[in-house]
Amino acid sequence: RDNPVPLPKRVILAAPRGYCAGVDRAVIAVEKALERFGAPVYVRKQIVHNIHVVSTLERKGAIFVDEVDEVPVGSHIVFSAHGVSPAVVQGAADRNLDAIDATCPLVTKVHREAVRFSRDDFEILLIGHRGHEEVEGTMGHAPERTILVNSPADVPNIVVNNPDHVVWLSQTTLSVDETMETVRLLRERFPNLQDPPSDDICYATTNRQVAIKKVSEQAELVIVVGSANSSNTVRLVDVALENGARAAYRVDYASEIQQEWLDGVSTVGVSSGASVPEVLVQEVLNDLADAGYADVQQVVTAEEDLMFSLPKELRKDANGNP
Ligand code: F3S
Repeated sequence: RDNPVPLPKRVILAAPRGYCAGVDRAVIAVEKALERFGAPVYVRKQIVHNIHVVSTLERKGAIFVDEVDEVPVGSHIVFSAHGVSPAVVQGAADRNLDAIDATCPLVTKVHREAVRFSRDDFEILLIGHRGHEEVEGTMGHAPERTILVNSPADVPNIVVNNPDHVVWLSQTTLSVDETMETVRLLRERFPNLQDPPSDDICYATTNRQVAIKKVSEQAELVIVVGSANSSNTVRLVDVALENGARAAYRVDYASEIQQEWLDGVSTVGVSSGASVPEVLVQEVLNDLADAGYADVQQVVTAEEDLMFSLPKELRKDANGNP
């Protein structure tokens, strides 16, 4: 019997992937703070949800803490890209900390929406993951008026005071498709549900999901580089599985790729979450090339050129002038 001719081995690389504008800004903010003020600079929570970024900054003198009360009075503290509640800002001020706010401007936008809708007496149905730092920060801007919707299964149990005065907002890094399904269910229950003024799921999350869908149509196996606590990274694995990949795995480092994942696979898709430095993707590509997948084709579904200016505390010169 003839052996079947093996299909050529190749990689399809998703673009856009990796760093978004908010992550880039947050990481540079910690580096600049270290340059300007010297080590140590404290950072509340992981500046971005990536193990490699955090350990690299630790080596440069950043100290990561969970809460501001762990920080010595009078020190410099950076708030992470995921944003903080007003209570955290106040806690830092009470300890006389010099705070640098690296909250992504697209998260700040959602905070502003929460404040405005709560001022207008809306109840806010916030779609997001319970316990995620971004969700805690956003809820903290309207604590009395926000109800967390953790999944579509929560929808039947939501109790509101006035079903005609509700709005939905969301975490920035959710699955676009699942969120739309949750909104559809919410609207069945609350036909007068108001939409946010603009999308809360950010451009980077959306673009990376569109790209990985395209890749997953052609790849049997998809490898997503990123950390386990990175919401947008974990969503990329889900989206790959829902859109044609037979298998999809998340790895922090190339060394985590298991030989058996590649058994019988001709096309491997590769992408990375919004907090992942490109060097980690290149290491994955190098290891795949060693395994015979040297042919790399990039699928480009969008061009990104958004950049944010640094937090205002770092735009001042050494004399405090803007
Ligand atoms: Fe901001 Fe979206 Fe990145 S909210 S930090 S641009 S994933």
